[in-house]
Amino acid sequence: MPTTIYEAIGGEAAIRKLVDTFYDLMVSQPEYVTIRLLHPPDMSGSRDKLFWFLCGWMGGPNHFIERFGHPRLRARHLPFAIGTSERDQWLACMHQAMDLCEVPGEIRQQLDESFSSTADWMRNQAPQP
Ligand code: HEM
Repeated sequence: MPTTIYEAIGGEAAIRKLVDTFYDLMVSQPEYVTIRLLHPPDMSGSRDKLFWFLCGWMGGPNHFIERFGHPRLRARHLPFAIGTSERDQWLACMHQAMDLCEVPGEIRQQLDESFSSTADWMRNQAPQP
């Protein structure tokens, strides 16, 4: 029986595929244009960083911390204006990527909840009145 989400999802190969699918959708789907424009034109570094981060976040090897130290995820997002619509675009893009990658049902609900709370915590703009 897998003991971590990292093992249950299929390890590094599955996480790499999820991250690549996520960024491919961000580039190709017009509904994600707001968050696409927050990222640099060349997103190969963004892909690597999210991949390294998610490996540790799902209970696997700590590639991100080994390279960059403590994630300080909220602080690292402060240069980017993230409100509710950016949060919702990010989550919709990740949900679509998880659908396409057929993330197993038994961990999908857990990932939905963890991504939701982490993305919500990344907001740094007050909601529009
Ligand atoms: C809430 C909506 C979010 C938006 C709009 C957003 C946007 C961004 C942007 C623009 C970058 C910079 C990319 C670069 O420098 O190449 C970034 C970096 C990053 N994001 Fe997000 N992000 C969001 C949520 C999340 C969530 C939920 C996670 C993790 C589960 C995450 C993980 C990361 C990581 C690990 C980095 C690299 C940080 C660094 O070392 O600079 N992000 N994000």
